[in-house]
Amino acid sequence: MEADRRDFIKAVTVATATAAAAHTVSAMGAAPGTAAQPPVRLDGIEAFAFDAYGTLFDVFSVTALCEELFPGHGDGLAQRWRAKQLQYSLLRSLMGRHKDFWLVTEDALVYASKSLRLELTQAKRERLMQAYLTLAAFPDVKPGLEALKRQGLRLAILSNGEPRMLEAAATSAGIDTLLDTIISVEEIKIFKVSPRVYSLGLERLQASRTTMGFVSSNSWDINGAGSAGLTTFWIQRTTGEPPEELGFAANRVVRAITDLAPLVRG
Ligand code: LAC
Repeated sequence: MEADRRDFIKAVTVATATAAAAHTVSAMGAAPGTAAQPPVRLDGIEAFAFDAYGTLFDVFSVTALCEELFPGHGDGLAQRWRAKQLQYSLLRSLMGRHKDFWLVTEDALVYASKSLRLELTQAKRERLMQAYLTLAAFPDVKPGLEALKRQGLRLAILSNGEPRMLEAAATSAGIDTLLDTIISVEEIKIFKVSPRVYSLGLERLQASRTTMGFVSSNSWDINGAGSAGLTTFWIQRTTGEPPEELGFAANRVVRAITDLAPLVRG
């Protein structure tokens, strides 16, 4: 049973694999073992577009509520929920069957609960979905954004999220006033890693690859943005997490959002 579960999680975790081997990351280069992209000039960066889930908002902050509602299954449910959410977004984009990320997130919750044989009553489903509107921000987010703002950079979210869920999470995390805009894939109705999403970011911020940096903790997202030609900054939140083997390593690898301001300081 445990082995099945592990295999299952491995199979559905399209983009969130982590490895045990620890390594150190320099704030000024790519992770060891990663083919770094050619150096880019950072003095021209005037704007940053941030991924939301996993980068600004901690999707695993729902684990405590999952545990309260399903004792003994909190971690498993939270992990499987996130993995399914990503998998469904990728599958729907390939199928050409877009559905907004709020609904995709709910479908993922239903599937994850069923797969663990947990009885998801309407009341539990609503509580868990509501929790997605008040996800905790990582501790480096607010001070990191404040420092960038003080330097006069324009800041945006560029996310798969549906606009209202992004606005609610940003407000609840107290970062809404630091953001110049929130850009949702709902404008084009296809999810990352479609190159159209990353082009939308450039277009909406009226920026080019030399004036906008794209920031994500999700290595698959960094690879998608790099493939679309963007200048990328990977926030490697977990020591030992390897970058995805997709061929478009980050231009810079840092450990926290607070590491960004010193990099672009003119
Ligand atoms: C985002 C995800 C999926 O676009 O992390 O916010």
